[in-house]
Amino acid sequence: MEKINVNYNEKPCYDVIISSDYSDFPKDIIPATSKICIITDDNVANAVLTDFKKALRREVSVFSFKPGEESKNLDTVKDIYTFLIKNDFSRSDHLIALGGGVVGDITGFAAATYKRGIAFIQVPTSLLAMVDSSVGGKTGVDVNSYKNMVGAFYMPKLVYANVSNLDSLPDREFFNGFAETMKAGLIRDEVFYLWLIDNMYEICEKDKDTLIEMIKRSVDIKRVVVEKDPTEKNERMLLNFGHTIGHAIEKAKGFELKHGECVALGSVAAAYISWKKDLLTKEEYYEIRDMFVPFNLPISTEKLDIDELIEIIKNDKKVIDGSLRFILLKKIGKAVIDKSVTEDEIREALMELNFEEEW
Ligand SMILES: NC(=O)c1ccc[n+]([C@@H]2O[C@H](COP(=O)([O-])OP(=O)(O)OC[C@H]3O[C@@H](n4cnc5c(N)ncnc54)[C@H](O)[C@@H]3O)[C@@H](O)[C@H]2O)c1
Ligand SMILES: [Zn+2]
Repeated sequence: MEKINVNYNEKPCYDVIISSDYSDFPKDIIPATSKICIITDDNVANAVLTDFKKALRREVSVFSFKPGEESKNLDTVKDIYTFLIKNDFSRSDHLIALGGGVVGDITGFAAATYKRGIAFIQVPTSLLAMVDSSVGGKTGVDVNSYKNMVGAFYMPKLVYANVSNLDSLPDREFFNGFAETMKAGLIRDEVFYLWLIDNMYEICEKDKDTLIEMIKRSVDIKRVVVEKDPTEKNERMLLNFGHTIGHAIEKAKGFELKHGECVALGSVAAAYISWKKDLLTKEEYYEIRDMFVPFNLPISTEKLDIDELIEIIKNDKKVIDGSLRFILLKKIGKAVIDKSVTEDEIREALMELNFEEEW
């Protein structure tokens, strides 16, 4: 078991516990008089809910919705409010988000707003949620096709990751989450990045001790960043490494690629620009690029419409006062915010990603 305490506004706020079963779950964090509503999606409910309920050993209500980003909207939030009202939930009761990032973001938002704030616990079950979305207190939902347009910063009372839940996670989802882990190493911790390379086999085999160590180190990197910048003004922007181009590809491809796959592509492009700007060496660029391959993540893709991508990037929210804040690597383990990336440099990096069949 590993435990990390995360500060919020410079005060200890919540623990992130990473374990391979539920035996370390601090049950007394929820008073006996408090009601519990587990919020989950139908896939997670089928795969891991029974075990979790057994571990809690008390009466709970369960609200489950249709899996996927399509459910991450205000309609689902309204259904949750209605369920809580019908079941008489008061402000002293607890919500538990059992699921991936979609469940965590929706539950956090419902918790932040139901009766102006009810306690919630994150039990992330996807790798992405364990290493990324369950930590930092960002909650929210999509509005129409606009991602995360409505939300709140609202801290969980506890984050409890049981890595055994990853056994039922489809492989593509597992590697999707891994992209964010790789990003964490690239932006802040070269030693961790090298550790990921050394432990490639164990990670792909989902060895539990290796996963606990990997998630702990990943969460710790995110912790340092969110503690310094809880509401995403400066430092937290570093977490957007690979995301400017990644988001654009995600959108242009109509969400046929997973977020982590797009982050891998965006990271390759950002590393390429870093090389072209003489921040990284050519060898470092190729090493970073090729490191995604054993983790089943793409480093090139077919039929990228470069003009369309440039348009999307220009409209990106990270454009402030007309200049794009781009996250580059000064070296492996050290990301920097750069305002000097030109359209031509982005174009060249996108061309590098474009997979052309050879005749
Ligand atoms: N709040 C933040 O800081 C933050 C950060 C990154 C991403 N996000 C958000 O997270 C979301 C993506 O998260 P995600 O990738 O976990 O997606 P997800 O929640 O949709 O989960 C992916 C799929 O895996 C299934 N699943 C999850 N755990 C499982 C398990 N143990 N066994 C079997 N199936 C399981 C889910 O039902 C779903 O089909 C996006 O909405 C994104 O905006 C938020
Ligand atoms: Zn991301």
